[in-house]
Amino acid sequence: MALLELDDLRARYGETDVLHGITLSVEPGAIVAILGANGAGKTTTFRAITGAIPTSGAVRFDGRPIKGNSPEAAARLGIAHVPEGRGTLAALTVRENLALGAFTQKDSKRTRATYERVVSYFPRLAERCNQAAGTLSGGEQQMLAIGRALMMEPRLMLLDEPSLGLAPLIVREIFALLERINKSDGVTILVSEQNAKLALAAASHAYVLETGRIAVSGPSADLNRDDAVRKSYLGY
Ligand SMILES: Nc1ncnc2c1ncn2[C@@H]1O[C@H](COP(=O)(O)OP(=O)(O)OP(=O)(O)O)[C@@H](O)[C@H]1O
Ligand SMILES: [Mg+2]
Repeated sequence: MALLELDDLRARYGETDVLHGITLSVEPGAIVAILGANGAGKTTTFRAITGAIPTSGAVRFDGRPIKGNSPEAAARLGIAHVPEGRGTLAALTVRENLALGAFTQKDSKRTRATYERVVSYFPRLAERCNQAAGTLSGGEQQMLAIGRALMMEPRLMLLDEPSLGLAPLIVREIFALLERINKSDGVTILVSEQNAKLALAAASHAYVLETGRIAVSGPSADLNRDDAVRKSYLGY
């Protein structure tokens, strides 16, 4: 059974329809990519999944609709959202930001163990645990946002354009970490990207979004091999 299923998901801002019926599924343990240009609807899809905006159609997690349909309800089920632009709190330290990620966790001993594991993934964060998040480099802030999401021990992580504004080297480092987190912690990942090449290398399946619709989808290897798909949708 799929961990996450979207069935004919639609969303609008005011009078403007933005998602015109998105159907996709994410198998447990998978890395799945949503590809698409600026304005294709990637961020809106994530907002619709977490219930941050009104939608129609179905979002099922573990076979059941998300009750309450709100970001808090989604978080309690184990869905961590790393939003576009990261959303870390600039005035708080690295350690404080990470602690906030554990808000659904009541067991403080377990939270400490999770903290140790998370900082072991990100040695750069460990060195900067008392530094204000706002003074971190862009790449470090993205790592902090991912680390904060991991603090809630999610089953599913939604990552909205993690490569945005970052240099190629740090982007590769972040994707390598995502693959490691996926394999060793078993976290299922749904990641949106404009950098199709990079995302297809990490993901087993991908969906190409075009103005709020899925234009093409399939196993990453098939999309990568298809010249027409590459030229029309992937831009390389
Ligand atoms: N709050 C809003 N009010 C009205 N329209 C919006 C709002 N947010 C997004 N849109 C519109 O919805 C469409 C999809 O936007 P969305 O942010 O989901 O795209 P995206 O694929 O994430 O793009 P990007 O790669 O630039 O982040 C765009 O046409 C955008 O202008
Ligand atoms: Mg976006």
